[in-house]
Amino acid sequence: MEEIFFERINKINPKILEGLKDKKEFSFRINRHKADLEAIDELKKEGYNPKKVAWSDYVYTLPIEDRKKITKSAPYTQNKIYIQNLSSIIAANSLDIDEDDWVLDLAAAPGGKSLIFSEKAKKVSAVEPDKKRFFRMKRNFKEHGAKNIQTYNKDGRFVYKATGEMFDKVFLDAPCSSEAHIELDKGITWWNLKRVRRFSKLQKELMISAFEALKPGGEMIYATCTFSPEENEENVDFLLKKYPNAEILEVNLPIDNIQEGITKWEDKEFSPEVKKAIRILPKDAYSGFFFCKIKKN
Ligand SMILES: C[S@@+](CC[C@H](N)C(=O)[O-])C[C@H]1O[C@@H](n2cnc3c(N)ncnc32)[C@H](O)[C@@H]1O
Repeated sequence: MEEIFFERINKINPKILEGLKDKKEFSFRINRHKADLEAIDELKKEGYNPKKVAWSDYVYTLPIEDRKKITKSAPYTQNKIYIQNLSSIIAANSLDIDEDDWVLDLAAAPGGKSLIFSEKAKKVSAVEPDKKRFFRMKRNFKEHGAKNIQTYNKDGRFVYKATGEMFDKVFLDAPCSSEAHIELDKGITWWNLKRVRRFSKLQKELMISAFEALKPGGEMIYATCTFSPEENEENVDFLLKKYPNAEILEVNLPIDNIQEGITKWEDKEFSPEVKKAIRILPKDAYSGFFFCKIKKN
């Protein structure tokens, strides 16, 4: 299996394997429900030296050696900062949210992205079927002071049947084979093609629910933390074919460790529109990620 995994990854982009080895930094953002830039001064007083990213005043990186220690710092214990990967933050920020928007987060636990949406939107509905993860997520929202998130312990695949076209924006951070979290030094133990195909099927069902739950004129983001085209471009192509009113929107990111969506994979060919999707290549504090913005016309 290892051989197949490496072969596939190298076909997508050989830089991915380099990036998977390289974990020198981690990232966090200021939780705007509880704090502002003073949280950074407080961290500095405790001896940390956070580095601001170029694309936000509220997002910072630190060396990986600080990762454990920082959980004892005052800003962290007071929930003024939230440890979150840069790829997750930049993808969540790519959903253009207006202050009157109602946002659906269709696969939400532990809730890091819902927390970002809740800082901008009027209301967020966060859906998570796993009981344990659901209750941990609820606690997470409470601790971080987000009062505008409603939580639902439901299977995302059927949500649209209850809501109809209700949401201004939808984020689907789909359950996936999590290839971006493979630690090469520990070996490729849990990866196999059957798993990729199983997730690909579930993701298509979730995508239908996400798109159906969107108001006409609304926008959604489909995302995964995996590299396999079966779970990424193939699903975007599936949605385009199923819904003639689905349009892929261009996303411009201020980073260079990205690759456009691929349009050929094994014996499959996808719509050229799929090129507008984005694969974030793992590098520094960015882990591997895929996302695509889709409008419902
Ligand atoms: C990638 S994680 C979401 C991470 C989250 N968005 C965040 O940023 O904190 C995917 C989640 O989907 C959930 N999930 C699995 N099957 C699902 C389904 N049928 N409907 C909705 N969510 C599902 C998993 O339990 C998991 O919590």
